[in-house]
Amino acid sequence: MRPEAIYALLDVHPRTHLTLGPTPVVHLPRLRGALGPETPELLAKLDEATGFALGGNKVRKLEYELAPPRLRGVTHLITTGGVQSNHCRVAAAAAARLGLGCVLVVNGDPPDPPTANALLHRLLGAKIRSVSTRADRQPAMEVELARIAEFGGKGLIVPLGASTPLGALGYVRGALELHEQLPAEQDRDVHVVLASSSGGTLAGLAAGFALLERTDIHLWAVSADTPAEELLSTALELATRALEELDMDPAIVQRIQPRMNTSDEEVGDGYGIPTDASREATELWARSEGMLVDPVYTSKAAAGLIRWIREGRFLAGDRIVFLHTGGHPAIFA
Ligand SMILES: Cc1ncc(COP(=O)(O)O)c(C=O)c1O
Repeated sequence: MRPEAIYALLDVHPRTHLTLGPTPVVHLPRLRGALGPETPELLAKLDEATGFALGGNKVRKLEYELAPPRLRGVTHLITTGGVQSNHCRVAAAAAARLGLGCVLVVNGDPPDPPTANALLHRLLGAKIRSVSTRADRQPAMEVELARIAEFGGKGLIVPLGASTPLGALGYVRGALELHEQLPAEQDRDVHVVLASSSGGTLAGLAAGFALLERTDIHLWAVSADTPAEELLSTALELATRALEELDMDPAIVQRIQPRMNTSDEEVGDGYGIPTDASREATELWARSEGMLVDPVYTSKAAAGLIRWIREGRFLAGDRIVFLHTGGHPAIFA
């Protein structure tokens, strides 16, 4: 399908504008040099610079999740994540911009004093409800929804990571942007490497590139926590439902499915815990390109990229795009 036709499908869905236009794509020649002579052309799409509340991938997803018709009568947003959640930061900022209250249900030990995203959650005016485990999050959000209703308000629960079929539309748009920035070239494949967790970013890209019929695009998702197979099936399910939102045949996702790769090899000791490989990647990105990657998500995606280059998974004539999904505050956690 032509991009204009896909934009027309997307335009049926209202959104709240939070992003500041297309994010740049830059070349990484010094990183390429540092990774050796067989390294393909290396680029980065800077979604760290989506332009709202320190940026990142959540900004694109929340534009659709917080579409004006969904906010009718709503007085509070309720959402969830870990104590240092990027998603919670952007949701709290969006609530502030929209004049809504915000309740964040966060799991994990709150840092004392608050640092990084935990500090920003408070600065943005969100009320914090702490729970012990991930399993406690959904019930706690429902308690908050009922509490707000008791006081005559109306809450909207935004699911974890805004990884919903609607939220994924933000990355259908992201795929369109990248398509325009990197048109297909004969006999050169494009490998997009990204950090993944709740799967919405991967799903939106998959749906977008399937619609665009970009058979040269391969998606390489590096999990921050979720087992690789679970991440793939979650993303495929979300991608098919995003296509349904656009009134398209969900089977279209099969066009890209064989070129979707997920890996949990960089998780190491768990969510948010650096590994030797992620530390190496952090230093390499910083010292070769002056590019900052966070310890939870993007450094692990960078480590996956290095691993796959060393394993010879890409041809020297191909292009690699590192999707920088943001997350800078975690550097200061
Ligand atoms: C910086 C960053 N990168 C990547 C991700 C993963 O995105 P998704 O949840 O859409 O898979 C997240 C959120 O979890 C994030 O905060």
